[in-house]
Amino acid sequence: MEPKSYFSVSYDLICRDTVMPYDLFVNASSVESKQKYVRVFPNGEELTADDLAGFKLKYKQLYVCEDQRNLYMKSLVQSGVASDEEAVTFIKDSAIKYLHNVFDPEKEFSTELLHETIAGCKDAVENMIDVLDDYNIDGLRVLIGSLSGHDFYTYDHSINVSMYSLTVMRALKPSATRQELLHVGLGGLLHDLGKVKIPTTILNKPEGLTEEEYAVIKTHPDLGLELILGSEGMDMDSLDLETIARIINEHHEDVAGTGYPKGLKGSEIHLLARVCAIADFFDAITTKRSYSDVMSVSQAIAIMEKTSGKKIDKKIFDAFKAHIDYSQVGSTKDLKMGDSFDPSIPFAHFPLEEVQAMFNDEDFGKIRVLDEKSDKKKEKK
Ligand SMILES: [Fe+2]
Ligand SMILES: [Fe+2]
Repeated sequence: MEPKSYFSVSYDLICRDTVMPYDLFVNASSVESKQKYVRVFPNGEELTADDLAGFKLKYKQLYVCEDQRNLYMKSLVQSGVASDEEAVTFIKDSAIKYLHNVFDPEKEFSTELLHETIAGCKDAVENMIDVLDDYNIDGLRVLIGSLSGHDFYTYDHSINVSMYSLTVMRALKPSATRQELLHVGLGGLLHDLGKVKIPTTILNKPEGLTEEEYAVIKTHPDLGLELILGSEGMDMDSLDLETIARIINEHHEDVAGTGYPKGLKGSEIHLLARVCAIADFFDAITTKRSYSDVMSVSQAIAIMEKTSGKKIDKKIFDAFKAHIDYSQVGSTKDLKMGDSFDPSIPFAHFPLEEVQAMFNDEDFGKIRVLDEKSDKKKEKK
């Protein structure tokens, strides 16, 4: 049997004056290379602030067993000892730990690891739903900006897409069920799963991709589908694997039918995949990668607006836009994203093109700020 592993916890982020949902351990080994964890406080008993202060005098560091990660994460979110930023940092670290199971090229991919990843990511999303309960997209942007980034872009991107998808879903459908939120959040975390099968030399190559290389990148929605369906038969509690599989497979479809892999149109694309596509697009152009351009929110909205109803779903985009505060800063150029843009490719410079006056049609280049209330009224009709 493999030895159990433990993670360190900050004294400030341990719940107190309550019945403990998890056990606390110390490392009693005096040899640095060896660890010997001893339980100093059991779950089920009440831990007072005085008990904790006593521990702090005696022990440099407290630990929690990995088996109880989710219990710790839940109590962090619900006990109020952590700020949202601290809670989301822990949730993000936990999600990365699970994503690392499958994205690390050193590890051999197995269905077992994928099961563990899905179960762990599900715990992370459950807690994310609770923390982000009353966040709008603006608040979320600020929160995301305050988190420290990982040097592997796919981790940050997957977590951001998951959080944006949750928030966009709530903006679109305030009555969304927990189940729908869980699916869209999990779909966001796993949307680029297929990239584990694509060589990083192709994935990280900024521009200059040959047609063959781009064709390889475009296989990731199908590769992801294959991988996720390989975990069929797993006891997923309340999860519907097929919904998650569709988010993974359809997140690069365009509503006009010009996307990939299948060229699906409009409502043929799963609603949650259309939500994920907007989160994916927005994160790809507003989050800084090491060598890439990054856009301001107003620029990003203006660029996305031009693809609304073509690349991205208009109704979802309108709901998204209504929940984001931006002003169109006077740019002398009216720009649109060139056809070569794909959120799954890192661009050192975005393929922006100037909109030619002759192409102007009614909606082109205009930013329409939707009033949330009148939008809701429209929806009710
Ligand atoms: Fe993708
Ligand atoms: Fe993506």
